[in-house]
Amino acid sequence: MKLWGGRFSENLNTLAARMNSSLGFDQRLAKMDIQGSKAWAKALAGAGIVNEEELAHLLQGLEKINGEFEESKFVYHESDEDIHTAVERRLKEIAGPVAGKLHTGRSRNDQVATDFRLWVLDAIPRLDELVKTLQWTLVERAEGDIGTILPGYTHMQQAQPVLLSHWWLWHFWMLQRDRDRLLDLAEETAVLPLGCGALAGSSFPIDRFALASELGFRRPFPNSLDAVSDRDFAAALLFWASLLGVHLSRLSEALILYSSREFAFIRLSDAFSTGSSLMPQKKNPDLLELTRAQSGKLIGLLAGLLAVLKGLPSAYDKDLQEDKLAVFEAVDRLTDSLPVMSGLLASLEVNQSRMREALDANMMATDLADYLVRKGIPFREAHEAVGRGVQKAEELRILLSEMPVEDWREIHPAFESDMVEEFSPEKSVEHRSAFGGTSPQAVLEQLALARQVLG
Ligand code: ARG
Repeated sequence: MKLWGGRFSENLNTLAARMNSSLGFDQRLAKMDIQGSKAWAKALAGAGIVNEEELAHLLQGLEKINGEFEESKFVYHESDEDIHTAVERRLKEIAGPVAGKLHTGRSRNDQVATDFRLWVLDAIPRLDELVKTLQWTLVERAEGDIGTILPGYTHMQQAQPVLLSHWWLWHFWMLQRDRDRLLDLAEETAVLPLGCGALAGSSFPIDRFALASELGFRRPFPNSLDAVSDRDFAAALLFWASLLGVHLSRLSEALILYSSREFAFIRLSDAFSTGSSLMPQKKNPDLLELTRAQSGKLIGLLAGLLAVLKGLPSAYDKDLQEDKLAVFEAVDRLTDSLPVMSGLLASLEVNQSRMREALDANMMATDLADYLVRKGIPFREAHEAVGRGVQKAEELRILLSEMPVEDWREIHPAFESDMVEEFSPEKSVEHRSAFGGTSPQAVLEQLALARQVLG
């Protein structure tokens, strides 16, 4: 059975049929297609197109098909070009001629747009839950690693000491923005295309507002051309996935570096690392590397969909069939990789002493300048003075902490013997107590806020 055979006298070429078919991937819309069709049948009854008895037949038939999908007993036919065709073909087998009334005033254009939106709306809470679990892992890491200090880097050069908990929570907030964006995405997706027909709207008195609430949408599209052509929600989801991918990739990149022999700040658990087939000693961060690579794939999916969309002149074009593959792939990838990241983070081991050893006393240069500022010296003058100290220490090939106080006093008379206390990384982080800073107190406040956000 074809949905469009009437005006054709020849069958579609076999290769063309294969290219035209989307059944291979849009089978995943089966549940949504039935959900949409049930609501549509009710809307048709509301508009007087089918009577109560016919409605009951349609609903029963659709319910039966739903059961077949749930039990994986649904049998596809060679002629099913997509999931919509398959469901309608089966409905005709079950319910007889009344099935032919279901497509009144509906096109696969508004149908597929609706099914796809339902699928995305179904995926959003699952994605949110996975990101939230990762956030919990970061909160737990931050709590467990509360006393640990590590070098903070800018330009990948040692900058200032930070608490490891602060570093974990940085990633927590990135993910929080991802979850906030997911809320916007759900809002945008929950606008109903159904009832817009192929492109021009429905000529039957369908109550599209009732239809929208029946299907859990916020409202119907006010423009039928927009309704069947809009894939902004799919692009937005792919952007969302790409940005989340970028966040995970940045974390991965840092952890790859930190797990190297040279840093040795962390050790990945055996459960989340792999070996080499040739070098017996190797322990490789493959999962982090794959997460890093995945962000590239996700960006590619977004770029691919945007490239598909940009040339479409009016309403529905078959190009739009390509939208689903990209979204399915992005969601599948994240569904698999987010729990891996959670497990990897929860099970890695922190090497506190290596982090500690890596804290060079020169990292406290800013603290020395701040020390002078607390003695009333303008910051620019203090910065200059410490800079001269750094230059001198470099000439002497010693650390700032190894230079005698007298030498410092020569550079600036405001330096006194208590300046040596500034070389403590603990003191350095403690100083940074303003909201958002890395002092233990500020980080504890931040942790409380993070917990509050998670609810
Ligand atoms: N399989 C199609 C898709 O995924 C369904 C819509 C087909 N519409 C059409 N006018 N041929 O986009």
